[in-house]
Amino acid sequence: MAKERLDKLLGHLGVGSRKEIHRLAKAGRIRVDGQVVTDPAFKLDPRQAHLEVDGTPLAYQRHFYLLLHKPAGYLTSTQDPSGLPVTALLPPQWQRPDWMPVGRLDKDAEGLLLLTTDGELLHRLTHPRWKVAKRYYVELAAPATPADAIAFASGSLELDGQPLRPAELYIGPDARKVELILREGRFHQIKRMFAARGNQVRYLRRVSFGPLELPPDLPPGACRPLFPQEVAALYQSVGLEAEP
Ligand code: URA
Repeated sequence: MAKERLDKLLGHLGVGSRKEIHRLAKAGRIRVDGQVVTDPAFKLDPRQAHLEVDGTPLAYQRHFYLLLHKPAGYLTSTQDPSGLPVTALLPPQWQRPDWMPVGRLDKDAEGLLLLTTDGELLHRLTHPRWKVAKRYYVELAAPATPADAIAFASGSLELDGQPLRPAELYIGPDARKVELILREGRFHQIKRMFAARGNQVRYLRRVSFGPLELPPDLPPGACRPLFPQEVAALYQSVGLEAEP
């Protein structure tokens, strides 16, 4: 792998701002392969070098992944001067400028929102070609009907003149509470699908995205990094190999 500047690499690994990293280096708190390095411009191979900050080893990671339980009231965006971007929910140690949300959730919708720094993964997870299944729990104004399930499954419904892919609707014992599985992501898709059936969405929560499930113990507003087996399953689901 090409060599990188020490300050750039430590910034990528979330150690701090460029200024903070320079201060750490000048104070002799950074070691590369056991040797104190005070020059922030020092070049090293991120995959080979053994890095330590204040004696704590720092493992190299090319990309980052966070699973966020999005609460209502936040925008699926990383910047939003007029409102609240979901990244405002992240604790300081997870703040970074290169997060990209995978698949939009409306401002009033809740649930699983994946953030990643890997553009190719994002592209595949959101491209209809890969048919990644997303499961939603939906509360409706009026009971759903078997005719809705047939219409959604048929692939005959259109939005903006384009046919929708078949979607699976599961109606609960209370037919106002349903689960819907989509394999694409159009703007306000679920709301517009039910509107086309003369119904209205009252509440929407994404409970899974491909192989990822919304953890039952992750409260709204909280996030956690993906486990390595979740990262591997995610890459595998779209024909990619996770980087070791
Ligand atoms: N469909 C919607 O209507 N809204 C969402 O947030 C997600 C899917």
